[in-house]
Amino acid sequence: MNAPVSIEVLKQHLIDPEICIRCNTCEETCPIDAIQHDDTNYVVMPDVCNGCMACVPPCPTGAIDNWRTVLKADAWSVDEQYTWDVLPEQGTMALPATAGPATGAMTGGSDGDGEAQGIEVDTVRGAVVPPWSAARPYVNLYTHRNPTKATVVGNYRLTDEGTESDIHHIVLDFGSLPFPVLEGQSIGILPPGSAADGRAHHARQYSIASPRDGERPGYNNVSLTVKRVTQDYRGNAASGVCSNYLCDLKKGDVVNVIGPFGSTFLMPNHPDSHLLMICTGTGSAPMRAMTEYRRRRRLKGATGKLMLFFGARTKAELPYFGPLTNLPKDFIDTNLAFSRTPGERKRYVQDAMRERAVDVAQLLRDDGTYIYVCGLKGMEDGVLQSLKDIADQHGLEWNALWQRLKREGRLHLETY
Ligand code: A2P
Repeated sequence: MNAPVSIEVLKQHLIDPEICIRCNTCEETCPIDAIQHDDTNYVVMPDVCNGCMACVPPCPTGAIDNWRTVLKADAWSVDEQYTWDVLPEQGTMALPATAGPATGAMTGGSDGDGEAQGIEVDTVRGAVVPPWSAARPYVNLYTHRNPTKATVVGNYRLTDEGTESDIHHIVLDFGSLPFPVLEGQSIGILPPGSAADGRAHHARQYSIASPRDGERPGYNNVSLTVKRVTQDYRGNAASGVCSNYLCDLKKGDVVNVIGPFGSTFLMPNHPDSHLLMICTGTGSAPMRAMTEYRRRRRLKGATGKLMLFFGARTKAELPYFGPLTNLPKDFIDTNLAFSRTPGERKRYVQDAMRERAVDVAQLLRDDGTYIYVCGLKGMEDGVLQSLKDIADQHGLEWNALWQRLKREGRLHLETY
């Protein structure tokens, strides 16, 4: 007599290599280290992923939200996933004729249609939802397979000549091609040429530095804040493929663009909402976009407060120093922190926040406050710690507040 065969079915979590922009958000978010990458793809370990969905909302493109129902024994290995240029179709599972009912519970928290079920927000540090009043973003209008084109209409160095930081403000015009964006979203640039393995370079992601209605109001353009990469993370000389391409572009050059990306790091649209913005270096791009949108909107009656903490090595290396310091004090409360000014002690954004603890606490107490953090990975711990210290000192219970800020889409973190 045939014994019943136990067939385990797996809802296998996969990442779409065609849409993925290799931003590393999923790998950083995964609470159980089920995601890894090589030079080509990001992949999910089928025997580790438990379908908790923590990685899904933060993914700016939605590439992460792909699921295939397979026999567990047939799950695609990470080595197979590394070779993919496109995702395999959902096949029909061949069940042996002798098989009894499938015994393995399907894993995976979604039905594969992008609908998250019971996301465990405790495992992520920032909000996975946008502010309630944010405008609806467009995402993935253009992908690796069907990029669009933009023309360079401006490329200016923002940092003083002679400083080590070579940061550029680059304006890209889409002409009559649609490219709708919101402040806080990003785009992908496809640099020309190919990597050492002969494959075309993947897109690199850059935050948009201009507001939704254009770098110049009414123009179909966006601006980017790009730092020329000249070293790898160990400090050895290395030339960043895309940043050098962008910083060397001339007016009239045409670039391949994909995106837009991002559906949570968005600004509130209700005019009495407050923005608490904390950034370092090129992390200022989304803050510039939001500030400029508010500046234009203020003329139409926005009343919310803006408070900015901005860190850079020196004044000469702070992008947008001039325009920023010219903004009226009653419009934005700007606090700069310089870490390498000769003869002065090192100051980080979190130090500046502590110095302004009373005013930061007042914003934390207000349900209309939305917090944005963008910049170096290293700042995230320091900034969250300073928010906690300030809250605790002022009688606000940080852990409860932190959870509420996340649930209400009022704490947004984007670090790299
Ligand atoms: P530092 O002088 O210690 O590197 P960058 O120019 O490399 O993009 O850095 C922008 C600013 O962010 C610099 O002032 C840098 O200081 C600062 N910074 C570096 N690490 C941290 C951190 N952990 N928290 C806050 N700011 C940081």
